Amino acid sequence: MDQRNTMVLLLLLLLFQVLFIAAQNSNQDFTALSSLTEFWENKPPNWVGTDPCGGSWDGIGCTKSRVTAIQLSSMNLKGSLTDDIGRLTELRTLDLSFNKGMSGRIPAEIGNLRNLQTLSLVGCDFFGPIPDSLGALNQLTFLALNLNRLSGPIPRTFGNLSNVDWLDISENQIEGPIPISDEQGPGLDMLLKTEHFHFGGNLLSGQVQPKLFSSNMILKHLLLDNNNLSGSIPDTIGLVKTLTAIRYDHNNMTGEVPSSIRNLTKLTDLNLGNNNLNGSMPDLTELNSLATVDLSNNSFNSSSIPSWASSLPYLTTLTLENTGLQGKIPTSLFSQPNIETVILRNNQLNGTLDVSNYTPNLALVDLGANKITDFVQKSQKITLNITLVGNPICLETGAGSQSYCINSQNSITYSTVPNNCIPPPCSSDMVSSPNCKCAFPYTGVLTSRVLGFSNFGNISYFKDLEHGLLATFQSHGLPVDSVSLNNPFWNSSSGYFRLDLKVFPSQSDRFNRTGVVSISFVLSNQIYEAPEFFNPYYFSSSSSYDFSAEASSSSKINKGIIAGAVAAGVVILVLSIFVIFVIRQKKITKAFDPFANWEQNNSSGSAPHIKGARWFSFEELKKYTNNFPDANAIGVGGYGKVYQAVLPSGELVAIKRASQESMQGAVEFKTEIELLSRVHHKNLVGLVGFCYDKGEQMLVYEYVPNGTIMDSLSGKSGIRMNWIRRLKVAVGAARGLAYLHELADPPIIHRDIKSSNILLDDHLNAKVADFGLSKLKDSDRGHITTQVKGTLGYMDPEYYMTQQLTEKSDVYSFGVTMLELVTARKPIEQGKFIVREVLGIMDRSKELYNLHALIDPMIKQEGNPKGLEKFVDLALKCVNDHAEDRPTMADVVKEIENILQLAGFNPNAESTSTSEAYENASGGKIFHLDIDKDFSYTSVFPPVKVEPQ
Ligand SMILES: *[C@@H]1O[C@H](CO)[C@@H](O)[C@H](O)[C@H]1NC(C)=O
Ligand SMILES: *[C@@H]1O[C@H](CO)[C@@H](O)[C@H](O)[C@H]1NC(C)=O
Ligand SMILES: *[C@@H]1O[C@H](CO)[C@@H](O)[C@H](O)[C@H]1NC(C)=O
Ligand SMILES: *[C@@H]1O[C@H](CO)[C@@H](O)[C@H](O)[C@H]1NC(C)=O
Ligand SMILES: *[C@@H]1O[C@H](CO)[C@@H](O)[C@H](O)[C@H]1NC(C)=O
Repeated sequence: MDQRNTMVLLLLLLLFQVLFIAAQNSNQDFTALSSLTEFWENKPPNWVGTDPCGGSWDGIGCTKSRVTAIQLSSMNLKGSLTDDIGRLTELRTLDLSFNKGMSGRIPAEIGNLRNLQTLSLVGCDFFGPIPDSLGALNQLTFLALNLNRLSGPIPRTFGNLSNVDWLDISENQIEGPIPISDEQGPGLDMLLKTEHFHFGGNLLSGQVQPKLFSSNMILKHLLLDNNNLSGSIPDTIGLVKTLTAIRYDHNNMTGEVPSSIRNLTKLTDLNLGNNNLNGSMPDLTELNSLATVDLSNNSFNSSSIPSWASSLPYLTTLTLENTGLQGKIPTSLFSQPNIETVILRNNQLNGTLDVSNYTPNLALVDLGANKITDFVQKSQKITLNITLVGNPICLETGAGSQSYCINSQNSITYSTVPNNCIPPPCSSDMVSSPNCKCAFPYTGVLTSRVLGFSNFGNISYFKDLEHGLLATFQSHGLPVDSVSLNNPFWNSSSGYFRLDLKVFPSQSDRFNRTGVVSISFVLSNQIYEAPEFFNPYYFSSSSSYDFSAEASSSSKINKGIIAGAVAAGVVILVLSIFVIFVIRQKKITKAFDPFANWEQNNSSGSAPHIKGARWFSFEELKKYTNNFPDANAIGVGGYGKVYQAVLPSGELVAIKRASQESMQGAVEFKTEIELLSRVHHKNLVGLVGFCYDKGEQMLVYEYVPNGTIMDSLSGKSGIRMNWIRRLKVAVGAARGLAYLHELADPPIIHRDIKSSNILLDDHLNAKVADFGLSKLKDSDRGHITTQVKGTLGYMDPEYYMTQQLTEKSDVYSFGVTMLELVTARKPIEQGKFIVREVLGIMDRSKELYNLHALIDPMIKQEGNPKGLEKFVDLALKCVNDHAEDRPTMADVVKEIENILQLAGFNPNAESTSTSEAYENASGGKIFHLDIDKDFSYTSVFPPVKVEPQ
């Protein structure tokens, strides 16, 4: 298993490199995407390489090499949305719906995505307030945040979403009133392009202001159900003539239903149930489109059954439970052409119930708890359910045995049946499709918030849904074989109707990620247009889909064979990639092998020579390291291993031996050697020599014994740095860098400054290491256009935006490193970026800038870390977003020197004798070491010998 992992790793590494090279247009969104998703679980496995726009990344869509769509619905993702999202500025679609493991707050930076048109976070686990910044997304047309745990108010700024059509925040814990525009800012009355206000299932309260509604609006669905709204229904609602569905039910509305509601002639569904409405029962006479009416549980004045109840041509469901009805029941109530359900429970209706003439669609008549004394029906063979429980007629002797004296309901059973085929037996996880093929369906739940029918025995409704769904999937080219619907459930307390949906794959027995994302998108983004009786609906995927082929239960095949086949596949892949690599390397080598001469020279006895760097043979280094034993490895990294060795002269060296995979091209290798051999500075790790022999690439450095400052800050190396030491380390590293930028000839940009590239020598002086990524500066153009390299968290944002490298990119990385020195935190920890963390809590009016929570406790122990504020100021200048506003490294050196002086040290004489504690990690023993030797600087930059080229 271990071996296989290594293999796969190797393969990935190779692939990575291949793709890296292939992606000539290195993608500027890659870094944002990688830091955004760094801690996410269950990312698509084909997210390899550095080019999300290469076409192979599942769920990523691009336009002109910029990421414009992230569609990762139902991927079982776990993680959070960090502020890195704000860097993907070209995004148009962001759909993370149905990932229950996506949690945390929605970051304000989402407001930077000014091009966003679709934002769907349905069915995740986001909590906390909706950021005001969302209101800045004025390109947004589809905003769905429903089914999370969001709290706080509806941001006023939503009033600025001038293009939004679908606004769904249902089923969260949103509280407070519905904001309208006033002198304090915008409000939802400004949303003149919105068709959907879906606010149900929250904690909204207060009055709905008349100003919310106007005749300029085009609202179709106004869903305010299941909140704590109070006051009366504003009569301005009658101005919004486009309305087709109103749900005001399950609130605490009082007052009369405004008569203006009679102007809403397009209304198909009206639910005002479960409030405290009073006055007379509303007159709905002209509302001839109505299909469902629910006015239950209000305090209307007593009245007889209104005439409209018997005259609305499309009415399917009439629910007037506990509404003060009295008198007789008109027979016409049951003969309307489309009526399916009549619920008139808990009223004072009396006389005879006559259902001798009813339409075939009628399924339920519930007249429980009234005063009915008689019952007339056409025949004894009655096909509808009638309930008269709690009426005088059921109290007569012997009546108890009558079916109408037993409580009954609409039976809700439906299950898609096979299409003229016999379902085969399927192994445990698989399901037989309607076309009788065993497969792994994508499953979820369809919920209608305003159901327009109630005869659940009428399967034509379900067939209609099935056909529409299948047709939509297939017309969008999705590999869907069939769909099935099961387990319908009517939740009478919320008024929501749900139904299980299974979507079966057509091309194989399971969907790949693209398939699932697309199906889910069709459902969650309302691309499937449900029939009127089911609208508005929403979809929610139920469980995580199993994408893995290995988990396939067709495990009758011997596991060994599979393993063998996989291994063989891996070997073939590795080999083919290797071949490609070799060919590529050969090409380069043939074209410009810079060592070609050297090798010949060498065989003829004269060692190649680069000024200042010695040439070592492989045999020599093998001998000095005692054959590269793993025990002598003092470091391991992506590039290979670093060994400690002793030269015959007694000099300690560190040998960096590149692994086969990380070999540089000969050109790059030579560049590195030339670079390193030319620079000499006490704060730069010196190159002793190199080896380019027997297919090996090794660099021999001076040995720097005390590890990296990252090791020290993390406690790994046991070297404990107090505040003054940190200042000295900072000034040392800064001097090294300033030298590279300003005194090396040609100037050198390091490109990978970070705490793990700054070493500590035996006097705990900083030495900047690893010039592997360095590039000479092209002095004519002032910058280098190059593929973005570097380390996440340290990378200059301007550099990866423009790919133009300048010295200021190093300044940025150095600023991040300075913050590390203050906080002992990694630049990105748990998805949080140190720069933003500092800026977030910093308060210049408070002691230590209010950074107590972030400052390394080890420094705080010292009491008063002198100059810390100035140091933080400087660090923040270095990480300024705009390169031109950052100081130069020479400025940085000067400023840290000033801070050292403030702290009582002469940075240029460094003669004060301090003993600093440092701890041996293994033994936990504390040594006191006098680290201040008597060297002194004569200038900021010590005299330097630069070899002529
Ligand atoms: C409903 O409103 C009435 C009057 O406005 C108030 O007295 C009552 O407490 C409210 N009920 C709830 C549950 O908020
Ligand atoms: C209905 O609309 C008309 C104009 O279309 C308007 O004059 C009338 O006042 C409205 N009725 C109510 C009750 O709002
Ligand atoms: C039915 O109720 C109405 C109103 O309460 C009443 O006037 C009428 O007499 C009742 N009819 C019968 C038969 O009880
Ligand atoms: C009538 O109600 C009973 C009891 O709820 C139920 O079992 C039966 O299926 C219903 N019949 C129809 C036609 O809905
Ligand atoms: C995913 O499935 C679709 C349709 O079956 C197919 O066209 C596509 O190539 C598949 N993608 C991958 C990465 O296999």
